[in-house]
Amino acid sequence: MAAYLDNAATSFPKPSNVIESMTTFMALNGATSGRGAYQKALLSDQLVFQARSKIARFFNHSDPKTVVFTKNVTEAINIALKGFLKSGDQVITSSVEHNAVWRCLKMLEKNEGICINVVPADKNGQTTAESVEHALTSKTKLIIFNHASNVLGTIQPIQAIGEIANLRRIPLMVDTAQTAGHFPIDMLNSHIDILAFTGHKGLMGPMGVGGLVLSPDLNIEPLISGGTGGDSAYPYQPDYYPNHLEAGTLNVPGIVGLSSGIDFINETGLERIHSKIKMLYNYTVDQLNTIPSIELYGPIDAQKTVGVIPFNLKGYPPEEIAFYLDQQHHVMIRAGLHCAPSAHQLMGTIERGACRIGLGYYNSKEDIDQLVIGLRQYLKSKRVSSCI
Ligand code: ALA
Repeated sequence: MAAYLDNAATSFPKPSNVIESMTTFMALNGATSGRGAYQKALLSDQLVFQARSKIARFFNHSDPKTVVFTKNVTEAINIALKGFLKSGDQVITSSVEHNAVWRCLKMLEKNEGICINVVPADKNGQTTAESVEHALTSKTKLIIFNHASNVLGTIQPIQAIGEIANLRRIPLMVDTAQTAGHFPIDMLNSHIDILAFTGHKGLMGPMGVGGLVLSPDLNIEPLISGGTGGDSAYPYQPDYYPNHLEAGTLNVPGIVGLSSGIDFINETGLERIHSKIKMLYNYTVDQLNTIPSIELYGPIDAQKTVGVIPFNLKGYPPEEIAFYLDQQHHVMIRAGLHCAPSAHQLMGTIERGACRIGLGYYNSKEDIDQLVIGLRQYLKSKRVSSCI
């Protein structure tokens, strides 16, 4: 049996209701949304609106019309940052961001002259709300943080940061790529003004769909312009959400799949998913610690992380380990820098990278046992070859 342990990249397998709803839509409907007035097209509109409503409810947000669909979380982050920040603005961020945020901010710094103020994280990737408060200036336009690092798994104190942001009337944007569907997120109570999500990780949907959930009073300039299915004689993008930020045909099959992914989470229970991943996290750490040359990074505390565990075997290249595990033991993990070099700076692995386990709801203890057997065999093969 194969052990898929790369759920931080994308979740696999997908729940059967996700696959069924997408197949049914493709086979029996297939009409675009927001364009036609025939029955199939109206049903397609309804499915998309239902998905917006479910997403709004899932994140405790009041207005489904400000749920905007994009093709992934990277696109969502680009739309929000490039459409909101202007020349001279200051933005506060953490030192453990994924390149989706970091490169976007660096482009804005180079091209628009925004000022990036990076709040330092400790070696476990943890930042504090106090350091965000100290970084605030009169020019701060936005605070953008990931909810959890895709390398260290560390969960940031979003609730406390949200309270500070709210007191100072500064919008808070959160990249939930690693937490949505694994960890409860409440936009209202955490004072999150812009939430960027991806559909294909914890939300259990397919690749190709993500989005933004926005406070209705924020004005974000569109990144792309084009048809929205209405107001066609008007020469500019409509100024109301979601059309303001949704030019072109929507990925309706993807949205339908995402909608079913949220049904799956609601039916299973977010608490149950969270508890299972915590149990697997503890089991994985215990098992990895039985390997003498293991190096684990991050808080190593299920209360402080999502199901992401970075590690190395002292003296061996992470890519070689990942390749061996896949080829010899059918165990799939991701090795390298994981598009987040600053997290590797903190871990001291910027030169060699690390292996990363990404746990998901469908994983079992047997998957972890298979991984550990593979790692032991890898070390054994190295000892044997060094004796030849
Ligand atoms: N950002 C994804 C990862 O961490 C793709 O693997």
